[in-house]
Amino acid sequence: MAKVDVDFRDVFPQTIDGLDGDGLLLVSQGADGKPNVMTIGWAAIGTIWRRQIFLALVRQSRHTHQLLEQNGDFTVNLMPADWGDAVAFCGDVSGREHDKFAEKGLKAVPAAKVRAPVIEQALVQYECRTVQKTDMNPANTDPAVVSRFYANGNFHTLYFGEIVAVRAEEGSGK
Ligand SMILES: Cc1cc2nc3c(=O)[nH]c(=O)nc-3n(C[C@H](O)[C@H](O)[C@H](O)COP(=O)(O)O)c2cc1C
Repeated sequence: MAKVDVDFRDVFPQTIDGLDGDGLLLVSQGADGKPNVMTIGWAAIGTIWRRQIFLALVRQSRHTHQLLEQNGDFTVNLMPADWGDAVAFCGDVSGREHDKFAEKGLKAVPAAKVRAPVIEQALVQYECRTVQKTDMNPANTDPAVVSRFYANGNFHTLYFGEIVAVRAEEGSGK
C-alpha cells in the first residue's frame, strides 16, 4: 500500500501502543553514512516551541547515541505486529557488532526531509531533526528514579526531534 503524509495527531494512538508494546524503531545515521536501528520504548510526543516534537531518550552507552552525536537527524518507525521478532532483535544487539537491517530484512530507504533513512516496511514513519539535546543531570532527578533506572550510571540523553514529516500507510490514521 502507498504511504501518504498524515497529521501526527492521526497516528498518535497506534504510536503510543507501539511504545507500550514491542517498541518503535529509531534509525540514525552517522558521518560514515551507514544507518543503524535500535528499539525504543521511552519517548514523548507533543508541542514545544510551537513545533511538533518527538522526544527520544537514548542511553549514552548505545551505538545510536554515538551516531546521533554526529548527526542529530533520526526517524522513528512503527512496524506491523508480525515484525515483533525483528523489533526485539534491534533492542537486544548493537549496531557496533551487527548490521541489523541486513540480518532482519529491514529495508532502509531515503527519507523525504532528513539525513537518516526510514524503514520501508513500517506502518508509520516519523522524520525528526534534533533541535535540542540535554544530558540528564542526576542532581536534578528524583533519587527514586536514579536508583531504580540508573544504578550503574549510563544516563539518557534527551533528543528533542522536530517532526518535519509523518508518513503512514493509506487508511492507517485515526
Ligand atoms: C522494548 C525495548 C525498548 C527499549 N527502549 C529503549 C529506549 O527508549 N532508550 C534506550 O536507550 N534503549 C532502549 N532499549 C535498548 C536498546 O534498544 C538496545 O540497547 C539496543 O541494542 C541498542 O542498539 P545500538 O547499540 O545499536 O544503538 C530498548 C530495548 C527494548 C527491547
